[in-house]
Amino acid sequence: MSDDNKETPGPEGSGESGEPREGAEREGAPRRERVVGTPSPAREKALLAEDDISAPAGVGEQLDEASMKRAERIVATLFMVAFAASVAFIAYFIGWSGRDGGMHGVVRARESNFWLGGTMALSFLAMAAGVTIWVRRLMTSKPIVQERHELGADEESQAAFARDFMEGAEDSGITKRPLLRRTLLLAAAPLGLAPLVLLRDLGPLPEKRLRHTYWGEAVKRAKSEGKKGVRLVVDGTHRPLRVSDFASPGSMITVLPEGIEEHVPEDEVLTQNAKAVTILINVPEDQFKPAKGRENWHVNGIVAYSKVCTHVGCPAALYEQTTHHILCPCHQSTFDATDAAKVIFGPAARALPQLPLSEEDGYIIATSDYHEPVGPSFWERG
Ligand code: FES
Repeated sequence: MSDDNKETPGPEGSGESGEPREGAEREGAPRRERVVGTPSPAREKALLAEDDISAPAGVGEQLDEASMKRAERIVATLFMVAFAASVAFIAYFIGWSGRDGGMHGVVRARESNFWLGGTMALSFLAMAAGVTIWVRRLMTSKPIVQERHELGADEESQAAFARDFMEGAEDSGITKRPLLRRTLLLAAAPLGLAPLVLLRDLGPLPEKRLRHTYWGEAVKRAKSEGKKGVRLVVDGTHRPLRVSDFASPGSMITVLPEGIEEHVPEDEVLTQNAKAVTILINVPEDQFKPAKGRENWHVNGIVAYSKVCTHVGCPAALYEQTTHHILCPCHQSTFDATDAAKVIFGPAARALPQLPLSEEDGYIIATSDYHEPVGPSFWERG
C-alpha cells in the first residue's frame, strides 16, 4: 500500500497521543468547529486498517501439482462442452431452418427457441465455468493495489483559497453595502425564471379543440338541412357509402364525413381529416356484442371506430378478418372489433372511440360526433 493511505494522527490525537478521538464527542466533550480551508477530519481516517489490507488467508497459495492437473482437466472438459454446444447450435440452425419450409409457425418457432437458446446457453455457461475455475484454481492470486494521488488540495492551497475568498468578499463590500447586494439579487432573479418562459415554446394549449372532430359539425349541418345525420364517404374517392355496398361480413374500409373538403378551410383540411378518420367494419352479427347504451350505434353489425390509435396516435389500420381484431402496427396494440374496440393487447390504455351510426335512404350515416376525444389518452385532458 502507498504511504498516502496510512492512518495519520489528527490534530485531536489518536490512541498514540493519549487522547481519545471519536469517544470524546460521544462523552460530551465540546464539538470542535471546523475552520474554512482546513482539511476535513474524514481524511484522517483510512477506510481499512493496515492489518485489514493484508492478503486474506489462502490467497497466493499454490495447489500441488496433482490438484492443478485435475483442475486443468476439468477446465478442458468444460471448454469441450462449450465447443460441442456451439457446434450443435450451428448444426441445428442450418439443419432445422432448411427443413419443411423453415422457421414459420408458432410451434416451429417455439421448438427452435428451445433448442437454439438451450445450446447457446449451455455453451456460454460451460465457457464461463471453465474460465472461473481456471482463474481461481490455476492462477496465482494476490492483492493488486492501484496507487492514486491525494484527491483533495493540500492544506496550503486550501488555506490560500479561504484567505483569498474572504479578502475578496471583504473588498467587494457586499456585507457593508446592502443596496448593492439587494439590487444584484433583484437583477439575478429574472434569470432564474427564464426557463419558465421557454415553456411557451411548447405551443398553444389545445383547450377544447381535441374534444371534437369534424363529425360533430357535419352532423349539425346535415340536421339543419332536415336530415338525420351526415353520410359516410370513402376516404380517397369521397363516394357516399350505401349499406348494400358494405354487406360482406369481415370487410373494413376507411371513411370520412361527407363535405369535409368543401366546408373546411384549405389549410385545415389535413388536420380535420386526421382527427375524423374512421374505420368502418362489418362484424358478423352473431359475433357482435354491442356495448351497453350503444345497442343502436351499428347498422346490421356495421360499426365505426376512430382510426387514431389511443396509444400515441398511429393509424390503427390493420384488421384481421378471422379474429375481428384491429391492430395498430406501431406498438401492436390490439382492439376487439366485436366488443366496442376494447384493448385486448398492447400499450394502448383505452378502447378506440366508437362513432354512432344509423341508416338513411339506404346510406350509412353518423348521427353525432364521437362521444369521447379521439387519439392518445392524454388528449382526454383537452
Ligand atoms: S400508437 Fe398504436 S400501439 Fe402505439
